[in-house]
Parts: sequence; structure tokens; C-alpha cells
Amino acid sequence: MKQLWLLTALTILLVTGCSSNSANNEAADGESIYANKCSACHGENLKGAVGPPVVNMAGKYSDKELLKIITEGTDQMPGNLLTDDQSKIVTEWLMEQ
Ligand code: HEC
Repeated sequence: MKQLWLLTALTILLVTGCSSNSANNEAADGESIYANKCSACHGENLKGAVGPPVVNMAGKYSDKELLKIITEGTDQMPGNLLTDDQSKIVTEWLMEQ
């Protein structure tokens, strides 16, 4: 009986955990999109990991250029990680970092 209760609690946790995640993926702000989709390669604090640091992008690229990198990717970075809306949100956010 105790085990069944545990299983139920775990299931609820899993379900609510997943649904809050997908909510993040859909709408969300630049910071959470970045945390979900980009930080694995560019580091939690934008300082770089597998990928290069992405601080001060406004000093290097225009909005348009940045958006293009984020939507299309490069030789080494995968494109199409985000929806169009998410790409715009994360571009705007990144330009302010
Ligand atoms: C699989 C790892 C990976 C993921 C995930 C990834 N990137 Fe990248 N990113 C890279 C690599 C590697 C480069 C360097 C590409 C090159 O020089 O051709 C790069 C380059 C960039 C650049 C250009 C940096 C510069 O100084 O020229 C920006 C901006 C960028 N990524 C933003 C993002 C954003 C925003 C996301 C999330 C949507 C993201 N990246 C997800 C690996 C990744």
C-alpha cells in the first residue's frame, strides 16, 4: 500500500514537472528559453562551454545577424532549435546581455 502511494506521488511529480517544462518551451522569456535550449553549449552564465561565449553579442552582430545565427545555426552550431517566436525573443534578450 505504501508503495502504491509512492508511485502515485511520483507520477504526479513527473506529470506536473513535464507540463511546466513544455509551458516554458512554448511561451517563456529569453532567459528561460536560453536556459532550456542554449545553456548546455553556451554555459549557464553565457560564458561558453562546448560553444563560444555569447556575451556582448550586440557589440559583434546586428539583431538580424544574430537572429540568423540562432535560426539557421552555423557549421558547428545546430539550427532550428527554436520556433520563430522563440528565436526572436531569445535574440532580443541576448542583445541586452
Ligand atoms: C550543440 C551545441 C550548441 C547549442 C545547443 C547552441 N549552440 Fe550556439 N554555437 C555553438 C557553437 C559550436 C558555436 C560556434 C559556431 C561557429 O563558430 O561556427 C555557436 C555559436 C553561436 C553564436 C555566435 C557566437 C559568436 O561569437 O559568433 C551565437 C550568438 C549562438 N551560438 C547562440 C545560441 C543560442 C541563442 C542557442 C539556443 C537557441 C544556441 N546557440 C544553441 C553550439 C551550440
